[in-house]
Amino acid sequence: MEVNIFNLERDHQDIKEQLIERFRDVLSRGEFILGREVASLEEAFASYIGVKYAVGVNSGTDALKIGGLSLGLKPGDKVVTTPNTYISTAMGLSIHGIEPVFCDIEMETYNMDPEALEGLLKREKGIRLCIPVHLYGHPCRMDEIADICKRYGVQILEDACQAHGALYKEKKVGSIGDVGAFSFYPTKNLGCYGDGGIITTNSHEVYERALMLRAYGQTSKHVHAIEGFNSRLDEVQAALLLIKLEKLDYWNKRRRHIAWLYKRELGDTPVILPQEATWAYHVYHLYVIRVRQRDELMAYLREKGITTLIHYPTPIHLQGVYSRLGYQEGAFSNSEEAARQIISLPIYPSMKEDEVVYVSRCIREFYGIQA
Ligand SMILES: Cc1ncc(COP(=O)(O)O)c(C=O)c1O
Repeated sequence: MEVNIFNLERDHQDIKEQLIERFRDVLSRGEFILGREVASLEEAFASYIGVKYAVGVNSGTDALKIGGLSLGLKPGDKVVTTPNTYISTAMGLSIHGIEPVFCDIEMETYNMDPEALEGLLKREKGIRLCIPVHLYGHPCRMDEIADICKRYGVQILEDACQAHGALYKEKKVGSIGDVGAFSFYPTKNLGCYGDGGIITTNSHEVYERALMLRAYGQTSKHVHAIEGFNSRLDEVQAALLLIKLEKLDYWNKRRRHIAWLYKRELGDTPVILPQEATWAYHVYHLYVIRVRQRDELMAYLREKGITTLIHYPTPIHLQGVYSRLGYQEGAFSNSEEAARQIISLPIYPSMKEDEVVYVSRCIREFYGIQA
């Protein structure tokens, strides 16, 4: 049996005709940029997340960049985030002279450790923004993080690029900090057909600045108040995302069911399975396990027709691009240990029970455990 880490083609089977029909509609109207579809998506997404405003942009990286700049960050300011994330969590702003400072994770959720955050804010001056990353679809400890940030006068930009629909207590992630940033990269829980992203906020001021920043800093056509970018979401993408948004909760439930199946099948093996905190609603963008013989297990699964990946093999404080920051190996022991041991197993909404059982059986075989 072949089991891929994602299966976008199968995930789309049920809605394929609907998508094609909507694509025809948009095509026949001839309005392709910042029109009624983007406006409808922004309204629907803001309401889904539980915020007043949403601004569609052209990637998750741009949502982070424009989100941070909309909060008034300037070159020379510092931003704290965790090292075990996708590079753009830091790069979206560092390219504008807003340097990252890192803080370690806790091993239960692989997310920002509030104690480490507090220690860092005590020591390091000039940090104006905190970017907690709801990694793999599991929310961060937002009450603790928000409380610490408030005490130190630090704003919060949630990186929710992997966590559409995840809940922290009763709240959707992306509605808790000053700004939320989401990616619509095709493999995300809510993905489009190319690049796309969206910013969420309750602040009218941030909303207005984000609108300007995504469109050349303009306040109205040919009137430019500030310097900005071209970072618009296309009408076609927005129209198709509106169809998919309706399915998001169902697809997240499917992901949770697959996670439950993995737990049933792998609960008695030496594999460390992902946990869901009592206060969390995990949406399992990725199903990340931890093992000691990582390379051997990945090779074994590859031989059995199963693809797996590592999210992410190099913690970003050790990436060449940030060597200027002077971090050495050993600086963040939890992030580094996780990076050595993690494997992302296949998970996607249309994954079948027999595929989960097959992947799990192969892992059991690897450990010499009876089925
Ligand atoms: C945690 C995280 N942050 C930011 C991004 C960047 O999103 P995009 O690829 O849409 O620019 C991603 C997606 O890859 C991500 O997983």
